[in-house]
Amino acid sequence: MDDIIAYHDRTKHHPRRYALGPGGLDWATQPNPFRRFDGSPVLKLPLADRDDTPPAAVLFGESVAPRRPFTLAALGLFFELSMGLSARKEIPGMSWYLRINPSSGNLHPTEAYAVLPALAWLPGGAGVYHYAPLDHALEQRARRSQGTNSDASRFCVGLTSIAWREAWKYGERAFRYCQHDVGHAFAALRYAAAVLGWRMELLPEWNDAQLARLLGLDRSEDFTNAERETPELLVRVMVNQAAGPTPSPVANAPVEWFGRANRLSSSHVGWPVIDEAIAVSERKASITDKSFVPESWPPPSAPACAHSSGQLIRRRRSAVDFDGVTSITREKFLAILDTTLPRASVPPFDAWPFSPQIHLVLFVHRVTGLDPGMYLWLRTPSDMEALRLAFHAVRDWEILRDTAPMMPLWRLGRGDLRDFARTVSCQQDIAANGAFSLGMLARFEPVLRERGASAWRELFWEAGMIGHSLYLAAEAAGVRGTGIGCYFDDELHRALGLKGHNWQSVYHFTIGNPVEDLRLRTMPPYAHLRMGTRGP
Ligand SMILES: Cc1cc2nc3c(=O)[nH]c(=O)nc-3n(C[C@H](O)[C@H](O)[C@H](O)COP(=O)(O)O)c2cc1C
Repeated sequence: MDDIIAYHDRTKHHPRRYALGPGGLDWATQPNPFRRFDGSPVLKLPLADRDDTPPAAVLFGESVAPRRPFTLAALGLFFELSMGLSARKEIPGMSWYLRINPSSGNLHPTEAYAVLPALAWLPGGAGVYHYAPLDHALEQRARRSQGTNSDASRFCVGLTSIAWREAWKYGERAFRYCQHDVGHAFAALRYAAAVLGWRMELLPEWNDAQLARLLGLDRSEDFTNAERETPELLVRVMVNQAAGPTPSPVANAPVEWFGRANRLSSSHVGWPVIDEAIAVSERKASITDKSFVPESWPPPSAPACAHSSGQLIRRRRSAVDFDGVTSITREKFLAILDTTLPRASVPPFDAWPFSPQIHLVLFVHRVTGLDPGMYLWLRTPSDMEALRLAFHAVRDWEILRDTAPMMPLWRLGRGDLRDFARTVSCQQDIAANGAFSLGMLARFEPVLRERGASAWRELFWEAGMIGHSLYLAAEAAGVRGTGIGCYFDDELHRALGLKGHNWQSVYHFTIGNPVEDLRLRTMPPYAHLRMGTRGP
């Protein structure tokens, strides 16, 4: 535990000392964002040719989508709406892809694997399949023995990280960003399942060694000369209400492996601090206690929106700047925050088996009907007293009477926080020019003590999930969000009067009226497949 706290402290940015990075970008070694397993059988997934997805309300738990049967088309839509491409961006002489799931620096360290049962439409049979977003295809990594795994009511998805992709640009802090990205990808999977009327749950009973074995990450012969992948998490997607029992970590072994991982960079810079952080935060034990029962909040009241769920998911983007003038209404502000509350049957937190540990410290700049200032969005009301004692610099706690007890919103102080928000977010204007920005404050050391060092990753996953719900809620409200991984951790702690490691800021976020970068052309994501050509 001390080692992961040491990594956490060492990778804090400070106004005069940023966490150790490469000091410049070496374009010659820029990692390939697309992993492939050369030599593996490839199953092309169909692309949706029309939008027949239900209204966006299904994403926010306000209604439930009709359940789609488990077909190749449904599996294709599931991956397209979670880990697929969302657009191609172009400037003269350069182009790159954006994806449904966001990623710090658009570097995409997260890889996804489907563990599928035997299905009539799956020529390779039960096995492990890597999702290749550029080709929207499954590459078969392993075939499992016949007669096993024929339960077509469910399948699993494993997520892994290739830390080098982030470390190439961000150095030592990169492993934090990998974890945020896992949280975003987890939420993206849950939202895609909701579009199809499917449910999802995290399977923390799988430890990292078991996950590495399941996904073939421990097969050094398939990764010679290629960057290794770190096991992160496994989820179960339940296609039918009556999904069978949870798959056991000691399930039958594959009978055959296929493919060799491609090399992503010609050479690498070593970041031993990340290697250590990976090792010390490994999940060594199974977690079987999933007894957490969420708070009973009032029914969800997400922003009203006319988009279909598929449209809303596809249009998610990060704002590169905000106009610095447009306000949002207090109703929209509250509706956006409402989507971050953990409710028993509302995505994405219904797939999360742990009690919520993160609260939002809000810097309100332009919300009509709300004074500018600092606010607290308390996702677990029982933490109230602990926070009151911890916030030594906050004297006035004012519950907003007209929102209580439905909305857990407290005012901590009035004032213009635009300069503070900009400064605390590494001097980024996006934290000041929007309607509001925020820091995610996690109960930290007590959680690590209780659940072990692997809980450090889970805190960042929870932050990524919150970020993802904010991204979609912002789009639904007609505004836009951006995750902020670059922030000065201790500046926020100081402003609140926090001492020690009981509470730590783990992610920042900002929301407002976006300004488009008109130099960029936006192209459809899969034109290269529809026209039968490979991408650039
Ligand atoms: C964990 C995380 C941290 C991020 N940090 C920043 C940041 O500090 N500043 C910023 O302008 N954008 C930040 N972003 C936004 C990414 O740059 C953006 O997601 C990426 O370029 C892909 O674009 P898209 O979100 O529009 O698909 C962050 C995104 C994530 C997921």
